[in-house]
Amino acid sequence: MLGKGPFPDVQTALDKLDEIGRISWPKKEGGTPMFMQYKDDLGGVDVQDLWTDIGPIPPQSPKRLGYPTQKPAALLDRIIEASSDEGDWVLDPFCGCGTAIFEANELKRNWIGIDITHLAISIMKSALREMKVYTPRNYQIIGEPTTFNEAQGLAKADKYQFQWWSLSLLDARPIGAPEGSKVGKKGADRGRDGYLTFKEGNDPNFRRIIIQAKGGENVGASDVRDLIGTVNNWKAAMGILITLDEPTEPMKTEARDAEYYESPTWGRKYPKIQIVTVKQLLEKKWPEMPFPNPFQ
Ligand SMILES: C[S@@+](CC[C@H](N)C(=O)[O-])C[C@H]1O[C@@H](n2cnc3c(N)ncnc32)[C@H](O)[C@@H]1O
Repeated sequence: MLGKGPFPDVQTALDKLDEIGRISWPKKEGGTPMFMQYKDDLGGVDVQDLWTDIGPIPPQSPKRLGYPTQKPAALLDRIIEASSDEGDWVLDPFCGCGTAIFEANELKRNWIGIDITHLAISIMKSALREMKVYTPRNYQIIGEPTTFNEAQGLAKADKYQFQWWSLSLLDARPIGAPEGSKVGKKGADRGRDGYLTFKEGNDPNFRRIIIQAKGGENVGASDVRDLIGTVNNWKAAMGILITLDEPTEPMKTEARDAEYYESPTWGRKYPKIQIVTVKQLLEKKWPEMPFPNPFQ
């Protein structure tokens, strides 16, 4: 324990602490020295087997990713810090919305996450992008469709999985929940499958780009009109429709006739409604968006 000894001034107190090895000097020149404190200095009670000091994530928290089983980051921090060191590997084989891998990344561990749904993967991908961790630069995704035929197969097998996967081609944040949950059903999102956010200059408000993905047959001009309606209802800046098949001429006309979004930051206009095919996205032909392309 440290005594509270009577020291005449701060400098003498600091010298005394240094003398007894309680000052940690930074290796880098100009760094700030730190006071070294040990567990025994603090008193209190050690963490017990039952942890009640970490609360759930509040319902309105911006950290909520819309995944029903999301755990608080502090809980995963404690588990990872208690059981591994920097550079170790953390594996979450049912990683859901990815809290374990985000915290492993923050704590400088290597990580592997496994999940069976494209919803989970696209949620993780968009959250990692917000943490400035990008694929393929910083990590790899194994097992996703990489060709048009594989995308077609996914669309045939499961329309929701296709939608979630295709949103992840733009790192968009999906709106939905895993199979069986009410949120995953169409209608709950009022026309939005997912969205991207961006800011203009110093304005603290986020602007949104609504994303819809269509993998089925019979996609037509009415889907473009629906998207225009949704963009207007949500007061979003723009809307992007991702399609599996080539858009028809009436679809292109409908999109061309929509207004423009004018970006004060970039001093130019962007087509308010854009249609992009899965094939184009797989070939890395991105829609025009009012922020630097993070995918290149
Ligand atoms: C309880 S949730 C996620 C829990 C996560 N570790 C967390 O803390 O938020 C379980 C996850 O396991 C995934 N899952 C279920 N069966 C799976 C399987 N056979 N292989 C991989 N993931 C699976 C589900 O899609 C779901 O996202």
